[in-house]
Amino acid sequence: MGAIDLDPASNSRENPNVPAARHYTAQDNGLVQPWVGRVFLNPPFGPGVEQWFSKLYLERSAGRTTEAIVLWKSATETAAWKTLTAISCRVCFPSARIRFVGPQGNDSGPTFSPALFYVGERPERFEKAFSGIGAVWVTP
Ligand SMILES: C[S@@+](CC[C@H](N)C(=O)[O-])C[C@H]1O[C@@H](n2cnc3c(N)ncnc32)[C@H](O)[C@@H]1O
Repeated sequence: MGAIDLDPASNSRENPNVPAARHYTAQDNGLVQPWVGRVFLNPPFGPGVEQWFSKLYLERSAGRTTEAIVLWKSATETAAWKTLTAISCRVCFPSARIRFVGPQGNDSGPTFSPALFYVGERPERFEKAFSGIGAVWVTP
């Protein structure tokens, strides 16, 4: 995307994991804030996750979010998956286990199968950037 304007589900504003220009934390409640520009979303996983994807749909429809990359998982049987793939045009399935690295350099491996989704008008750039990580599929 070139840069990240907003992380709407951030661990911290002072010491964020994601190098975005702006961060919303749980204290701000990113679900009720405007999502302007290029968004990187790694939502709180759990039963309420679909509301983050519905919010992304609303912000994109309103023209506030111009592009987004979403880090979530391959949960193809869920309603959240259907909502997210309905607004994404590409999804990357990493071909190897990816690791998460925190600001202090500490890293951990997820226990789920991550997937990365692209929402926006420049899918060819997403394909170029992510094809080295795994297969990039066109969403139906
Ligand atoms: C999966 S973590 C992602 C953290 C960071 N964005 C990253 O990619 O490493 C989800 C984060 O969302 C935060 N969070 C939970 N509820 C939130 C809310 N309503 N608004 C904003 N952030 C929230 C949690 O504190 C947690 O740090």
